[in-house]
Amino acid sequence: MLLSGSGSNLQALIDASRQPASPWQITAVISDNPTAYGLTRAHAADVPAIVVAKQPNQSRDDYDRALAREVQEIDPDLVVLAGFMRIIAGPMIDTFAGRILNIHPALLPKYKGLNTYERCLAAGDPMHGTTVHFVTLALDDGPPVIQGEVAVRENDNIDSLKARVQALEHQIYPMAVRWFAEDRLIMREGQAWLDSMPLVEPVTVDAGSLST
Ligand code: GRF
Repeated sequence: MLLSGSGSNLQALIDASRQPASPWQITAVISDNPTAYGLTRAHAADVPAIVVAKQPNQSRDDYDRALAREVQEIDPDLVVLAGFMRIIAGPMIDTFAGRILNIHPALLPKYKGLNTYERCLAAGDPMHGTTVHFVTLALDDGPPVIQGEVAVRENDNIDSLKARVQALEHQIYPMAVRWFAEDRLIMREGQAWLDSMPLVEPVTVDAGSLST
C-alpha cells in the first residue's frame, strides 16, 4: 500500500483485512513522506512500513525506478494507492500492469487531478463522490471499478463534503480489494471486469445502499 498522508484508507483496509476469513492481508506500507500519519497507523497495527522519499538530487526517473524496485522486493499481488501524492510512472506500470488500484475523490471522469472538492463546490454540482480505478499511465484515467456517490448539501463546505466522501471510501475500497483477492476483479483489454463481465460503467453505491 502506497500513501503520503493521513492513511484513513489504510486504516479502513487494515480493519477489513482483520475481519475473520479475509482473503487478503496488507504486506507492507510505503510512504514517500517521512511524516505521514499513515506510517504511525501502520506501526500501531504491526504492518511493516518504509519510507521511499525522493532525494533532492534524485531525478524523477531515478525515483520512479527506485520506488518500483522497492515494491518488487515486497512482491505484492496488488498495489493499493491511497493518497499517494506522486504520479505512477512507467517502471511501476511495467511491472504491475493490471495490479494497481487507486482511489480518487471524484466521480471520474469528472475532476481528474487535485482540488476536487473545491472544484465540485465551485461548479455547484448536485453530486460528488469517489472512484476506485485501475492505474494506467494516464493520470486518474484508468478503468473505473466502483464509485461512491454523495449528494452535495446546500451548506456543504470542503470539510463536510470530504467527511462524507471519505466515509464512503472506507467502505468501497475494501470491497474492491476483496473482489481482486477473490479473482473476481481483473483488468483486461484496457477495461475492468467483475465476475467475467466488463464494467462498462463502474459499480455505483451511495451511503444509503451500503447501510442497508
Ligand atoms: C483519499 O481521500 C483519496 O481519495 C485521495 O487521497 C485521500 C487519502 O486520504 N486520493 P487518506 O490518507 O487515506 O486519509
